[in-house]
Amino acid sequence: MDSSIYKNCSVLVTGGAGFIGSHLTEYLLENGHAVTILDDLSTGSMKNINGLLANPHVKFIEGTILDPELVDHFVAKAELVFHLAAVVGVKNVVDFPRHGIEVNVGGTENILKSASKHRSRVVLASSSEVYGISKDIPFREDGDRVLGPTSVQRWSYAASKALDEHLGLTYSSEGLPVSMVRYFNAYGPRIQESGYGSVIARFISQAFRGEKLTLYGDGDQTRSFTYIADTVRGTYLVGTHPDAIGEIFNIGTEVETSVKDLATEICKLLGVTPEFETVRFEDVFGPDFQDIPRRVPSVEKAGKILGFNPEYSLEKGLKKTIEWAKEHYKSANSTQAK
Ligand SMILES: NC(=O)c1ccc[n+]([C@@H]2O[C@H](COP(=O)([O-])OP(=O)(O)OC[C@H]3O[C@@H](n4cnc5c(N)ncnc54)[C@H](O)[C@@H]3O)[C@@H](O)[C@H]2O)c1
Repeated sequence: MDSSIYKNCSVLVTGGAGFIGSHLTEYLLENGHAVTILDDLSTGSMKNINGLLANPHVKFIEGTILDPELVDHFVAKAELVFHLAAVVGVKNVVDFPRHGIEVNVGGTENILKSASKHRSRVVLASSSEVYGISKDIPFREDGDRVLGPTSVQRWSYAASKALDEHLGLTYSSEGLPVSMVRYFNAYGPRIQESGYGSVIARFISQAFRGEKLTLYGDGDQTRSFTYIADTVRGTYLVGTHPDAIGEIFNIGTEVETSVKDLATEICKLLGVTPEFETVRFEDVFGPDFQDIPRRVPSVEKAGKILGFNPEYSLEKGLKKTIEWAKEHYKSANSTQAK
């Protein structure tokens, strides 16, 4: 199949008012596509997309992916669907597990059913969370997954995303062009403390206010913090490359950084002395919470098939994020940081 058939096509981005979705929309517009955003603004915000709405090639629809008729109406008009709408963030999932499962599984089912009817190509946003506490580092797409017990609600998010992948693969085996992306801690401008990569937003805000930086646990847990421009470029490749159909891709950086080192780097870039306070995971997320000690992808598959390579170092990405945060976080102006 020729990837150029997706040139200038019409695209639906569910969750397009969210962090990744708003950046993806911008990228799609820059690449000549017309974009419809479907978002219920539950965690997304008009602030993320207001700057895009003057563009005649972008349309915003406030609504939920749980409404099958609404979904069908807009999927019918799209040749390509990036399905990013979901209940996101460990705290949201732990606090509202039933809603999370309903949106993350029921909503995806609505998208796939309509896409199958209208023959639209689909990218499903999955997550590095699906690997759970696997010790098989770096995580490979065909590696085993290890999740904790179902009594720990944190795992409902990973389970819901894994079920989405199963659904996607099933539809793909029936001939629908579906691909899946597993994101690894995306960050960048527009990142919010309540969102998925909240740790970076929290550290920057705290450093701005001259406060101690709060580490959950001992701060030795590692993540692969991926700058949003890399996340978006990878997502676009997954949605348009002919060999991505029916496949799952890790999209992230292979650079592993502990949360404590992340905090230290942010302080260094802001010119403040790092000072920490630690809190127990249980005190933030409730009893029985389980954390993931290491989370690192292999992006070999995305490199080989899609030519994807993350380009941003942590320092470069953080500098851009801090630059944005200086103008957008409350009390940034009263910062003690130099
Ligand atoms: N940010 C990351 O590092 C990361 C990591 C792993 C997976 N993901 C996945 O990527 C996608 C985007 O995440 P994000 O970080 O941009 O989060 P986000 O919260 O900023 O974006 C999610 C968007 O979905 C919208 N939404 C939620 N429920 C909806 C519903 N019922 N109908 C319509 N819209 C709805 C929200 O309002 C929001 O705009 C999600 O599917 C998430 O699970 C993100």
